[in-house]
Amino acid sequence: MASKGLLESQMRVATQPTPSFSGRRRLEEKPTSSVASLRRWKPLKVVMTSSPPRERQVMRDTTLHDHKALTPYQPWTRHEPEQVPVEKLEVIASLDSWAQENLLPLLKPVSKSWQPQDFLPDASSESFFDEVRELQSRARELPDDYLVCLVGDMITEEALPTYQTMFNTFEGVRDKTGCSPTPWGVWIRAWTAEENRHGDLLNRYLYLSGRVDMCMVERTTQYLIGSGMEPHIDQNPYNGFIYTSFQERATFISHGNTARHAKQLGEHKLATICGIIASDEKRHEIAYSRIVSKLFELDPSGTMLSFQEMMKKKITMPAHLMYDGDNDHLFDDYSSVAQRCGVYTAQDYASIMEHLIDLWNVKSLTGLSSEAQKAQEFVCKLPARIHRLAERTQRRARGEVPRRRAFSWIHNKEVDLFL
Ligand SMILES: [Fe+2]
Ligand SMILES: [Fe+2]
Repeated sequence: MASKGLLESQMRVATQPTPSFSGRRRLEEKPTSSVASLRRWKPLKVVMTSSPPRERQVMRDTTLHDHKALTPYQPWTRHEPEQVPVEKLEVIASLDSWAQENLLPLLKPVSKSWQPQDFLPDASSESFFDEVRELQSRARELPDDYLVCLVGDMITEEALPTYQTMFNTFEGVRDKTGCSPTPWGVWIRAWTAEENRHGDLLNRYLYLSGRVDMCMVERTTQYLIGSGMEPHIDQNPYNGFIYTSFQERATFISHGNTARHAKQLGEHKLATICGIIASDEKRHEIAYSRIVSKLFELDPSGTMLSFQEMMKKKITMPAHLMYDGDNDHLFDDYSSVAQRCGVYTAQDYASIMEHLIDLWNVKSLTGLSSEAQKAQEFVCKLPARIHRLAERTQRRARGEVPRRRAFSWIHNKEVDLFL
Protein backbone atom coordinates (compact mmCIF):
# COMPACT_ATOMS: atom_id res chain seq x y z
CA MET A 1 0.00 0.00 0.00
CA ALA A 2 2.83 2.35 0.85
CA SER A 3 4.41 1.92 -2.58
CA LYS A 4 1.06 2.54 -4.31
CA GLY A 5 0.68 5.79 -2.36
CA LEU A 6 4.20 6.76 -3.32
CA LEU A 7 3.48 6.16 -7.00
CA GLU A 8 0.28 8.17 -6.89
CA SER A 9 2.05 10.98 -5.15
CA GLN A 10 4.83 10.91 -7.77
CA MET A 11 2.31 11.13 -10.61
CA ARG A 12 0.54 14.02 -8.91
CA VAL A 13 3.75 15.91 -8.32
CA ALA A 14 5.01 15.38 -11.87
CA THR A 15 2.06 17.07 -13.50
CA GLN A 16 1.70 20.10 -11.23
CA PRO A 17 2.85 23.43 -12.70
CA THR A 18 5.30 25.52 -10.67
CA PRO A 19 6.28 29.17 -10.90
CA SER A 20 9.63 29.71 -12.60
CA PHE A 21 12.78 30.37 -10.66
CA SER A 22 14.08 32.76 -13.31
CA GLY A 23 10.78 34.67 -13.04
CA ARG A 24 11.39 35.23 -9.34
CA ARG A 25 14.87 36.49 -10.11
CA ARG A 26 13.66 38.77 -12.86
CA LEU A 27 11.47 40.69 -10.42
CA GLU A 28 14.59 41.77 -8.59
CA GLU A 29 16.26 43.17 -11.72
CA LYS A 30 15.89 46.73 -12.98
CA PRO A 31 14.38 47.20 -16.45
CA THR A 32 16.57 48.77 -19.11
CA SER A 33 15.59 51.59 -21.45
CA SER A 34 18.39 51.21 -23.98
CA VAL A 35 17.44 47.90 -25.54
CA ALA A 36 16.82 49.23 -29.06
CA SER A 37 20.31 50.67 -29.34
CA LEU A 38 21.76 47.28 -28.45
CA ARG A 39 20.07 45.27 -31.18
CA ARG A 40 23.08 45.44 -33.43
CA TRP A 41 25.03 43.38 -30.89
CA LYS A 42 25.04 39.68 -31.43
CA PRO A 43 23.79 38.02 -28.22
CA LEU A 44 26.42 36.20 -26.23
CA LYS A 45 25.44 32.58 -25.69
CA VAL A 46 28.47 31.48 -23.69
CA VAL A 47 26.34 30.17 -20.85
CA MET A 48 27.23 26.59 -19.89
CA THR A 49 29.79 26.36 -22.61
CA SER A 50 32.86 28.16 -23.50
CA SER A 51 32.17 27.18 -27.07
CA PRO A 52 31.61 30.62 -28.46
CA PRO A 53 28.40 31.50 -30.26
CA ARG A 54 30.29 31.70 -33.56
CA GLU A 55 31.78 28.24 -33.22
CA ARG A 56 28.45 26.74 -32.29
CA GLN A 57 26.90 28.35 -35.37
CA VAL A 58 29.59 26.79 -37.53
CA MET A 59 28.87 23.43 -35.92
CA ARG A 60 25.24 23.73 -36.99
CA ASP A 61 26.10 24.88 -40.48
CA THR A 62 28.25 21.81 -41.03
CA THR A 63 25.64 19.52 -39.41
CA LEU A 64 28.21 18.34 -36.90
CA HIS A 65 25.77 19.22 -34.16
CA ASP A 66 22.88 17.55 -35.92
CA HIS A 67 22.23 14.23 -34.27
CA LYS A 68 20.01 13.12 -37.13
CA ALA A 69 23.10 13.19 -39.35
CA LEU A 70 25.41 12.07 -36.58
CA THR A 71 24.49 9.09 -34.49
CA PRO A 72 25.81 9.44 -30.96
CA TYR A 73 28.21 6.59 -31.51
CA GLN A 74 30.03 8.09 -34.48
CA PRO A 75 33.31 9.89 -33.84
CA TRP A 76 32.81 13.62 -33.53
CA THR A 77 36.43 14.72 -33.58
CA ARG A 78 37.17 17.10 -36.42
CA HIS A 79 40.90 16.56 -36.63
CA GLU A 80 43.69 14.27 -35.56
CA PRO A 81 45.32 15.39 -32.30
CA GLU A 82 48.64 17.18 -32.71
CA GLN A 83 51.90 15.75 -31.38
CA VAL A 84 52.83 17.04 -27.92
CA PRO A 85 56.25 18.79 -28.05
CA VAL A 86 59.05 16.73 -26.47
CA GLU A 87 60.09 19.62 -24.18
CA LYS A 88 56.64 19.66 -22.63
CA LEU A 89 56.69 15.91 -22.08
CA GLU A 90 60.07 16.26 -20.36
CA VAL A 91 58.65 18.85 -17.97
CA ILE A 92 55.73 16.53 -17.16
CA ALA A 93 58.10 13.57 -16.68
CA SER A 94 60.04 15.57 -14.06
CA LEU A 95 56.91 16.01 -11.92
CA ASP A 96 56.35 12.49 -10.54
CA SER A 97 57.63 13.10 -7.02
CA TRP A 98 56.08 16.59 -7.00
CA ALA A 99 52.70 15.03 -7.83
CA GLN A 100 53.15 12.45 -5.06
CA GLU A 101 53.79 15.18 -2.49
CA ASN A 102 51.50 17.95 -3.71
CA LEU A 103 48.62 16.29 -5.52
CA LEU A 104 47.78 13.05 -3.76
CA PRO A 105 47.30 14.70 -0.33
CA LEU A 106 44.33 16.55 -1.88
CA LEU A 107 42.45 13.26 -2.19
CA LYS A 108 40.21 12.31 0.70
CA PRO A 109 40.53 8.84 2.28
CA VAL A 110 37.48 6.73 1.44
CA SER A 111 36.78 6.14 5.14
CA LYS A 112 36.45 9.91 5.64
CA SER A 113 34.50 10.59 2.44
CA TRP A 114 30.79 11.30 2.40
CA GLN A 115 28.61 8.84 0.52
CA PRO A 116 25.32 9.53 -1.30
CA GLN A 117 23.43 7.45 1.30
CA ASP A 118 24.43 10.00 3.99
CA PHE A 119 22.01 12.51 2.41
CA LEU A 120 19.13 10.29 1.28
CA PRO A 121 16.31 8.24 2.84
CA ASP A 122 17.58 4.82 3.89
CA ALA A 123 15.63 2.08 2.06
CA SER A 124 16.48 -0.40 4.82
CA SER A 125 14.83 1.80 7.43
CA GLU A 126 11.19 1.49 8.54
CA SER A 127 10.82 5.23 8.13
CA PHE A 128 11.90 5.10 4.46
CA PHE A 129 8.49 5.82 2.92
CA ASP A 130 7.82 8.66 5.37
CA GLU A 131 11.20 10.15 4.51
CA VAL A 132 10.48 9.84 0.79
CA ARG A 133 7.11 11.54 1.24
CA GLU A 134 8.84 14.34 3.13
CA LEU A 135 11.47 14.66 0.38
CA GLN A 136 8.72 14.79 -2.26
CA SER A 137 6.80 17.42 -0.40
CA ARG A 138 9.91 19.63 -0.26
CA ALA A 139 10.74 18.93 -3.92
CA ARG A 140 7.20 19.92 -4.93
CA GLU A 141 8.19 23.56 -4.42
CA LEU A 142 11.09 23.43 -6.88
CA PRO A 143 10.28 25.40 -10.07
CA ASP A 144 10.51 23.65 -13.43
CA ASP A 145 13.39 25.78 -14.70
CA TYR A 146 15.37 25.04 -11.54
CA LEU A 147 14.77 21.33 -12.13
CA VAL A 148 16.07 21.61 -15.70
CA CYS A 149 19.31 23.07 -14.31
CA LEU A 150 19.58 20.33 -11.70
CA VAL A 151 18.93 17.55 -14.23
CA GLY A 152 21.49 19.04 -16.66
CA ASP A 153 24.06 19.23 -13.87
CA MET A 154 23.29 15.64 -12.89
CA ILE A 155 23.61 14.31 -16.45
CA THR A 156 26.92 16.15 -16.78
CA GLU A 157 28.13 14.34 -13.65
CA GLU A 158 26.78 11.00 -14.85
CA ALA A 159 28.93 11.11 -18.00
CA LEU A 160 31.97 10.47 -15.81
CA PRO A 161 33.30 7.53 -17.90
CA THR A 162 33.91 10.07 -20.69
CA TYR A 163 36.00 12.28 -18.38
CA GLN A 164 38.18 9.40 -17.20
CA THR A 165 38.69 8.44 -20.85
CA MET A 166 39.54 12.04 -21.69
CA PHE A 167 42.03 12.24 -18.81
CA ASN A 168 43.74 9.14 -20.11
CA THR A 169 44.41 10.88 -23.44
CA PHE A 170 46.83 13.30 -21.74
CA GLU A 171 50.36 12.33 -22.85
CA GLY A 172 52.78 11.62 -20.01
CA VAL A 173 50.24 11.22 -17.22
CA ARG A 174 47.85 8.54 -18.47
CA ASP A 175 47.08 5.42 -16.48
CA LYS A 176 48.80 2.96 -18.81
CA THR A 177 47.64 -0.29 -17.22
CA GLY A 178 44.36 0.59 -15.54
CA CYS A 179 45.95 0.19 -12.12
CA SER A 180 49.21 2.08 -12.65
CA PRO A 181 51.01 2.89 -9.35
CA THR A 182 52.34 6.23 -10.65
CA PRO A 183 50.98 9.28 -8.78
CA TRP A 184 49.18 10.33 -11.97
CA GLY A 185 47.51 6.91 -12.32
CA VAL A 186 46.51 6.95 -8.65
CA TRP A 187 45.12 10.47 -9.01
CA ILE A 188 43.06 9.70 -12.13
CA ARG A 189 41.38 6.67 -10.54
CA ALA A 190 40.80 8.24 -7.12
CA TRP A 191 39.53 11.49 -8.64
CA THR A 192 37.09 9.45 -10.74
CA ALA A 193 35.98 7.54 -7.65
CA GLU A 194 35.33 10.78 -5.78
CA GLU A 195 33.42 12.25 -8.73
CA ASN A 196 31.34 9.09 -9.09
CA ARG A 197 29.42 10.00 -5.93
CA HIS A 198 28.17 13.28 -7.45
CA GLY A 199 26.05 11.76 -10.21
CA ASP A 200 24.85 8.99 -7.90
CA LEU A 201 23.65 11.45 -5.27
CA LEU A 202 21.87 13.81 -7.67
CA ASN A 203 20.38 10.90 -9.61
CA ARG A 204 18.88 9.30 -6.51
CA TYR A 205 17.55 12.60 -5.22
CA LEU A 206 15.87 13.37 -8.55
CA TYR A 207 14.46 9.85 -8.80
CA LEU A 208 12.96 10.03 -5.32
CA SER A 209 11.64 13.55 -5.90
CA GLY A 210 9.12 12.22 -8.44
CA ARG A 211 9.44 15.48 -10.36
CA VAL A 212 11.30 14.29 -13.46
CA ASP A 213 10.89 11.78 -16.28
CA MET A 214 13.70 9.46 -15.24
CA CYS A 215 13.53 7.42 -18.43
CA MET A 216 14.26 10.51 -20.56
CA VAL A 217 16.94 11.65 -18.12
CA GLU A 218 18.65 8.25 -18.22
CA ARG A 219 18.31 8.06 -22.00
CA THR A 220 20.10 11.43 -22.24
CA THR A 221 22.91 10.09 -20.05
CA GLN A 222 23.27 7.00 -22.24
CA TYR A 223 23.41 9.09 -25.40
CA LEU A 224 25.93 11.46 -23.83
CA ILE A 225 28.33 8.74 -22.68
CA GLY A 226 28.01 7.13 -26.11
CA SER A 227 28.82 10.44 -27.81
CA GLY A 228 31.84 11.39 -25.69
CA MET A 229 33.21 14.92 -25.82
CA GLU A 230 35.69 17.04 -27.75
CA PRO A 231 37.55 19.38 -25.41
CA HIS A 232 40.30 20.28 -27.95
CA ILE A 233 43.08 19.24 -25.59
CA ASP A 234 45.07 17.44 -28.31
CA GLN A 235 46.58 14.96 -25.80
CA ASN A 236 48.60 17.86 -24.38
CA PRO A 237 48.79 17.67 -20.57
CA TYR A 238 49.39 21.44 -20.32
CA ASN A 239 46.12 22.03 -22.20
CA GLY A 240 44.47 19.27 -20.20
CA PHE A 241 45.26 20.73 -16.79
CA ILE A 242 44.24 24.23 -17.88
CA TYR A 243 40.98 22.71 -19.11
CA THR A 244 40.34 20.77 -15.89
CA SER A 245 41.23 23.81 -13.72
CA PHE A 246 38.60 25.79 -15.59
CA GLN A 247 36.09 22.98 -15.61
CA GLU A 248 36.28 22.15 -11.90
CA ARG A 249 35.77 25.81 -11.02
CA ALA A 250 32.81 25.95 -13.44
CA THR A 251 31.16 22.99 -11.69
CA PHE A 252 32.00 24.48 -8.28
CA ILE A 253 30.13 27.65 -9.31
CA SER A 254 27.22 25.77 -10.87
CA HIS A 255 26.62 23.41 -7.92
CA GLY A 256 27.20 26.31 -5.51
CA ASN A 257 24.44 28.27 -7.24
CA THR A 258 21.96 25.38 -7.26
CA ALA A 259 22.71 25.01 -3.53
CA ARG A 260 22.05 28.71 -2.89
CA HIS A 261 18.84 28.65 -4.92
CA ALA A 262 17.62 25.48 -3.16
CA LYS A 263 18.08 27.29 0.14
CA GLN A 264 16.09 30.28 -1.15
CA LEU A 265 13.36 27.86 -2.25
CA GLY A 266 13.22 26.28 1.21
CA GLU A 267 14.71 22.90 0.17
CA HIS A 268 17.50 22.87 2.74
CA LYS A 269 18.40 19.21 2.29
CA LEU A 270 18.92 19.70 -1.44
CA ALA A 271 20.98 22.79 -0.60
CA THR A 272 23.22 20.54 1.52
CA ILE A 273 23.48 17.99 -1.32
CA CYS A 274 24.51 20.56 -3.93
CA GLY A 275 26.80 22.26 -1.42
CA ILE A 276 28.69 19.09 -0.52
CA ILE A 277 29.25 18.36 -4.21
CA ALA A 278 30.45 21.94 -4.77
CA SER A 279 33.01 21.52 -1.98
CA ASP A 280 34.48 18.46 -3.76
CA GLU A 281 34.70 20.43 -7.00
CA LYS A 282 36.56 23.18 -5.16
CA ARG A 283 39.14 20.69 -3.85
CA HIS A 284 39.60 19.27 -7.34
CA GLU A 285 39.97 22.78 -8.74
CA ILE A 286 42.75 23.42 -6.22
CA ALA A 287 44.53 20.26 -7.39
CA TYR A 288 44.42 21.02 -11.11
CA SER A 289 45.23 24.71 -10.75
CA ARG A 290 48.17 23.74 -8.51
CA ILE A 291 49.58 21.63 -11.35
CA VAL A 292 49.28 24.57 -13.74
CA SER A 293 50.99 26.87 -11.21
CA LYS A 294 53.89 24.42 -11.19
CA LEU A 295 53.97 24.36 -15.00
CA PHE A 296 54.11 28.18 -15.05
CA GLU A 297 57.05 27.95 -12.65
CA LEU A 298 58.97 25.38 -14.76
CA ASP A 299 57.96 26.49 -18.26
CA PRO A 300 56.36 29.95 -18.20
CA SER A 301 56.39 30.55 -21.96
CA GLY A 302 55.10 27.08 -22.87
CA THR A 303 52.34 27.29 -20.27
CA MET A 304 51.39 30.81 -21.32
CA LEU A 305 51.00 29.64 -24.92
CA SER A 306 48.86 26.71 -23.82
CA PHE A 307 46.67 29.05 -21.76
CA GLN A 308 46.17 31.25 -24.81
CA GLU A 309 45.48 28.21 -27.00
CA MET A 310 42.75 26.94 -24.68
CA MET A 311 41.18 30.40 -24.32
CA LYS A 312 41.14 30.86 -28.10
CA LYS A 313 39.60 27.43 -28.63
CA LYS A 314 37.14 28.24 -25.82
CA ILE A 315 36.58 25.79 -23.01
CA THR A 316 33.96 23.39 -24.34
CA MET A 317 31.76 22.14 -21.55
CA PRO A 318 31.88 18.35 -21.03
CA ALA A 319 28.21 17.74 -21.85
CA HIS A 320 28.17 19.68 -25.12
CA LEU A 321 26.96 16.61 -27.07
CA MET A 322 23.92 16.19 -24.84
CA TYR A 323 20.91 14.68 -26.62
CA ASP A 324 17.66 13.05 -25.48
CA GLY A 325 16.69 11.33 -28.74
CA ASP A 326 14.61 14.27 -29.92
CA ASN A 327 16.01 17.76 -29.27
CA ASP A 328 19.10 18.42 -31.40
CA HIS A 329 19.81 21.58 -29.44
CA LEU A 330 19.26 20.21 -25.97
CA PHE A 331 22.60 21.43 -24.62
CA ASP A 332 22.02 24.96 -25.96
CA ASP A 333 18.56 24.99 -24.40
CA TYR A 334 19.75 23.67 -21.04
CA SER A 335 22.60 26.21 -21.07
CA SER A 336 20.16 28.96 -21.85
CA VAL A 337 17.93 28.02 -18.91
CA ALA A 338 21.00 27.87 -16.65
CA GLN A 339 21.96 31.36 -17.81
CA ARG A 340 18.45 32.68 -17.16
CA CYS A 341 18.32 31.12 -13.69
CA GLY A 342 21.80 32.37 -12.80
CA VAL A 343 23.16 28.84 -12.30
CA TYR A 344 26.02 29.31 -14.75
CA THR A 345 26.38 32.45 -16.86
CA ALA A 346 28.64 34.16 -19.34
CA GLN A 347 29.75 36.41 -16.48
CA ASP A 348 30.77 33.29 -14.57
CA TYR A 349 32.86 32.23 -17.54
CA ALA A 350 34.69 35.56 -17.54
CA SER A 351 35.10 35.50 -13.76
CA ILE A 352 36.72 32.04 -13.93
CA MET A 353 39.21 33.43 -16.42
CA GLU A 354 39.93 36.39 -14.12
CA HIS A 355 40.34 34.06 -11.16
CA LEU A 356 42.86 31.83 -12.97
CA ILE A 357 44.79 34.83 -14.35
CA ASP A 358 45.17 36.13 -10.78
CA LEU A 359 45.92 32.71 -9.27
CA TRP A 360 48.66 32.00 -11.79
CA ASN A 361 50.02 35.58 -11.58
CA VAL A 362 49.75 35.78 -15.35
CA LYS A 363 49.88 39.59 -15.41
CA SER A 364 53.26 39.72 -13.65
CA LEU A 365 55.00 36.88 -15.51
CA THR A 366 58.44 37.92 -16.74
CA GLY A 367 61.12 36.34 -18.91
CA LEU A 368 58.60 35.21 -21.51
CA SER A 369 59.41 34.64 -25.17
CA SER A 370 58.03 37.35 -27.47
CA GLU A 371 55.27 34.99 -28.64
CA ALA A 372 54.36 34.23 -25.03
CA GLN A 373 54.33 37.95 -24.20
CA LYS A 374 51.73 38.48 -26.93
CA ALA A 375 49.74 35.54 -25.50
CA GLN A 376 49.96 37.14 -22.03
CA GLU A 377 48.53 40.39 -23.38
CA PHE A 378 45.76 38.58 -25.25
CA VAL A 379 44.69 36.47 -22.27
CA CYS A 380 44.75 39.36 -19.78
CA LYS A 381 42.41 41.46 -21.95
CA LEU A 382 39.94 38.64 -22.60
CA PRO A 383 37.82 38.68 -19.41
CA ALA A 384 36.93 42.35 -19.80
CA ARG A 385 35.83 41.71 -23.40
CA ILE A 386 33.62 38.81 -22.34
CA HIS A 387 32.15 40.81 -19.44
CA ARG A 388 31.22 43.63 -21.84
CA LEU A 389 29.56 41.25 -24.30
CA ALA A 390 27.76 39.47 -21.48
CA GLU A 391 26.39 42.75 -20.09
CA ARG A 392 25.06 43.77 -23.49
CA THR A 393 23.38 40.42 -23.96
CA GLN A 394 21.94 40.57 -20.44
CA ARG A 395 20.44 44.00 -21.09
CA ARG A 396 18.92 42.76 -24.33
CA ALA A 397 17.46 39.69 -22.60
CA ARG A 398 15.78 41.87 -19.99
CA GLY A 399 14.02 43.84 -22.72
CA GLU A 400 12.67 40.89 -24.69
CA VAL A 401 9.95 38.32 -24.15
CA PRO A 402 11.85 35.06 -23.64
CA ARG A 403 11.38 32.10 -25.94
CA ARG A 404 10.06 28.98 -24.27
CA ARG A 405 11.20 25.40 -24.72
CA ALA A 406 9.72 22.06 -23.65
CA PHE A 407 12.09 19.65 -21.89
CA SER A 408 11.50 15.90 -22.04
CA TRP A 409 13.24 15.65 -18.63
CA ILE A 410 10.27 17.37 -16.96
CA HIS A 411 7.46 15.64 -18.87
CA ASN A 412 7.64 18.12 -21.77
CA LYS A 413 6.70 21.12 -19.68
CA GLU A 414 7.93 24.44 -21.07
CA VAL A 415 10.31 26.86 -19.39
CA ASP A 416 11.76 30.25 -20.37
CA LEU A 417 15.04 30.41 -22.22
CA PHE A 418 17.52 33.23 -21.68
CA LEU A 419 16.79 34.85 -25.03
FE1 LIG B 1 31.55 16.47 -10.08
FE1 LIG C 1 34.58 17.83 -10.80
